[in-house]
Amino acid sequence: MIPVTKPFLPPQEEYQAYLNEIWSSGWLTNMGPLSVELEQKLTAHLRVPQLLYVTNGTVALQMAIKALDLKGEIITTPFSFVATTSSIVWEGCTPVFVDIDSDSLNIDAGKIEAAITEKTTAILATHVYGNPCDVLAIDAIAKKHNLKVIYDAAHAFGVEVYGKSIFEYGDISTCSLHATKLYHSIEGGLIIAGNAELHQKLRYIRNFGISGFYEFAELGINGKNSEFHAAMGLVNLNHIAAISEKRKALVKKYDELLKETRLQRPVWHQDSENNAAYYPVIFETEEALLQAEETFKQNQIGTRRYFYPSLATALPYLDPTEMEITDSISKRVLCLPLYYDLEIEDVNVVCGILKLNNQIQTIKHS
Ligand SMILES: Cc1ncc(COP(=O)(O)O)c(C=O)c1O
Repeated sequence: MIPVTKPFLPPQEEYQAYLNEIWSSGWLTNMGPLSVELEQKLTAHLRVPQLLYVTNGTVALQMAIKALDLKGEIITTPFSFVATTSSIVWEGCTPVFVDIDSDSLNIDAGKIEAAITEKTTAILATHVYGNPCDVLAIDAIAKKHNLKVIYDAAHAFGVEVYGKSIFEYGDISTCSLHATKLYHSIEGGLIIAGNAELHQKLRYIRNFGISGFYEFAELGINGKNSEFHAAMGLVNLNHIAAISEKRKALVKKYDELLKETRLQRPVWHQDSENNAAYYPVIFETEEALLQAEETFKQNQIGTRRYFYPSLATALPYLDPTEMEITDSISKRVLCLPLYYDLEIEDVNVVCGILKLNNQIQTIKHS
């Protein structure tokens, strides 16, 4: 059995050492010493001015929308995980979908201006699979129309563009540290706001809005994370170089083995390196994808249609909107197995099946 993903688990004794610390401090949650240490280490590792460690990537998005006081319409991508859209609706705003670019699979910056109305207050874009959006174009549009920008950088741990962290773009960036992510703390999320005042506001929001012993500065939520989660984050951070290296080697192998096939791959941002968070391939037709998916299933290989279906058509709480490129890509994209424990030999097996599938499709259509 080859699953599509498998969480990285560090040597158990390394986690146990942190559990011993928790037992002696007696501090289980509420911004304890391990959460503070994790924030400090991640700030240095990611080269950002400051960050907050929170419950998960979804709460991070909701807190971002709340902190920026967004109302009305938020322009967003239909090609993302459901949390990108649901957080907009959860915060009482209206998502307005703009189609994606067929190469990068990120929101098409060239189509954003046409979607702006007098109700638009922000752009919420996802760096899909960790591939940076056209941050310069989005920034210019936001400035011109006085809009806020939030980046859902759930997939983009460790990504840099134009010489700095991807998390430094936009008013706020959020990241997910969920167990299936490249770097994780079981559950967890990050919020990065460059502006010190906004950062402080988010800090209050994370802790019920509490600003002093019997004082409240903001409408807040419980966005804190526990010491047990922080401990996993700290242990895993010691392994991040090895995790990245292994995943990049697997991606290189996939690239080598699949280059002769007709499978399409997302085109990566010219100024950025792939962080090897996912390995998506795009088939020529949905039929070819379904055929491959079935063959993988028969061979006990996990794959995931990620993202499928388009968020502009899938959600029962929104009127469906057709989006030409998203509809087409989401029907044809499949993520292949990629995780630290995956062996190069497994990549050979996965690619062998894909190539066979390709041949069947070619014969069928000739
Ligand atoms: C693009 C995107 N945004 C948001 C989230 C939500 O993150 P979390 O699971 O940490 O709440 C995910 C999780 O998979 C995601 O892929």
